[in-house]
Amino acid sequence: MSTHAESKPWTVPALADAKREGRRLVMLTAYDNSFARVADANGIDLILIGDSLGMVVQGHDSTLPVTVDDIAYHTRAVARGLNRALLIADLPFQSDATPERALDASIQLLQAGAEMVKLEGAGHKLEVIRFLVERDIPVCAHLGLTPQSVLKFGGYKVQGRDEAAAARLRADAKAVAEAGAQLLVLECVPTSLATAITADLSIPTIGIGAGPGCDGQVLVLHDFLGIDTGHRKPKFVKDFLAEGGSIAGAVRAYAQAVRDGSFPDAEHSYA
Ligand code: KIV
Repeated sequence: MSTHAESKPWTVPALADAKREGRRLVMLTAYDNSFARVADANGIDLILIGDSLGMVVQGHDSTLPVTVDDIAYHTRAVARGLNRALLIADLPFQSDATPERALDASIQLLQAGAEMVKLEGAGHKLEVIRFLVERDIPVCAHLGLTPQSVLKFGGYKVQGRDEAAAARLRADAKAVAEAGAQLLVLECVPTSLATAITADLSIPTIGIGAGPGCDGQVLVLHDFLGIDTGHRKPKFVKDFLAEGGSIAGAVRAYAQAVRDGSFPDAEHSYA
């Protein structure tokens, strides 16, 4: 089957087309120009400058110390390496606490080369999403295990396990889409819940520890290359370097496995 990989650069409106046409989206984090070039040339659709950079690049225990300037620095480096992938940048901790702060941060990130910003949560963030979207800033929402809420959660734990939490997440997912988000990352939620949320929405869902029922998948670059970052390795992580034999080969193996539905399997998902 022909994929977007062989054709034109990704755009934000093309995300909904992909969902409608049943084409799975392959997303990877990147933080520098060289890795971004390899990812872009080997079939990655969406590149995320994640605030995970606080943990895998800067050596922190959480994403909380990451600043907008940090994300903008890495966004500039990555943007110069892309021809085809859509570039999404994280709004780091509390940079989206108010609509005005989120707008300032998003302007900085779009001017650095991002084409969409990602923010965590629903609740008061719905107003932030609406405010940004009304100002032509495309938004990716992020629900489930939202790492910026690690202090509230008391650790990095699977979310939506009981009935009430699952119902809340399902309602939040509908609410972020109604507020105007055009993509939704679901992190560490049971497969059945992520599958139900994916069926509820017309925007694509991207899973990480959310099972095979999402419209696409994302992994953190260092996890996908089997690099020891000093943090606990979550269940959903798979080392594609072992399979691919080279970094370019790992990217191709990951992209192929996401597109053909063989990753993630039950071993890399939560029941
Ligand atoms: O910061 C990040 O890399 C992320 C992904 C794990 C989705 O948010």
